Amino acid sequence: MRVFSSHKELLKSLDSSKLVGLIPTMGSLHKGHLSLVDRALIENDQIIVSIYVNPTQFNDINDLKKYPRNLDRDLDKLKHYKDIFIYTPSDKDLYQEVISKKYDLDNLDKILEGKFRPGHFDGVATIVEKLFNIFSPDNAYFGEKDFQQLSIIKIMIKKLSINVNIISCETIREPDGLAMSSRNKNMTEEERLIAGQINKFMLKVKEIYKKTKIYKIPDNIIDDLKNLKNCQLEYFEIDNLSKYSSFLKDEGDRIFVACWVGKTRIIDNMTLK
Ligand code: PAJ
Repeated sequence: MRVFSSHKELLKSLDSSKLVGLIPTMGSLHKGHLSLVDRALIENDQIIVSIYVNPTQFNDINDLKKYPRNLDRDLDKLKHYKDIFIYTPSDKDLYQEVISKKYDLDNLDKILEGKFRPGHFDGVATIVEKLFNIFSPDNAYFGEKDFQQLSIIKIMIKKLSINVNIISCETIREPDGLAMSSRNKNMTEEERLIAGQINKFMLKVKEIYKKTKIYKIPDNIIDDLKNLKNCQLEYFEIDNLSKYSSFLKDEGDRIFVACWVGKTRIIDNMTLK
């Protein structure tokens, strides 16, 4: 493993004639992130894991301050991968001015997460476009855990004619079904148990969908989720993101959910196929 804080230095060691895989992350790595690394290692000659908490995608300054950071622990988790590049930049290595570009994302940035986190997806697209421009990866790996983000990146690269394969990787979950997330460690034991219920609600909707092909989640299920102790629901919806953009292939309906459990915001989604 070789660690670089300067992209120019990293590029000097990269052999651009070989296949390059990129895994953008914000660190605080868990098995979900490592599943992307494992897949990228199989499919590429060289891989770059970027670890950077990108300020422009945080619409709430407190969320940015509170975001878990632990580079030493992250490097420890990656140290057994011998031949990988780790990119841990400062703001300066990426931004002249720490602001987002504005993108036309076919309004996919206005729904679900976009409604609750205005400007978030412009920030995500800004940093991911920068990383693509710097490293020109052949393949870039993203988790379905953030399905809307994954779809937005697919739209962004098509609109800007960026030549990279976007590889989507399935969501890795805890034994009780909670999607792994860097933010999960912020929860108390009691909140963590409540968070584990969210997956059960999605599975319940999936069961009903299989029988009746509903397009709206039944009110009683929404009410039950709202009534979970310490849980403040933001959205719990069925949608098919491909209807927003001709750049997205139809992957069928999905359930999307976001809620706060105590002071921790949780997002998740599940295919209804
Ligand atoms: P971060 O939340 O660190 O996630 C990095 C990548 O790991 C994303 O593609 C995310 O979808 C994936 N991931 C997270 N949890 C996962 C899980 N449980 N199973 C599978 N994949 C998972 O997403 C971001 O960072 C940022 O927005 C980023 C794309 C790096 C831009 O700053």
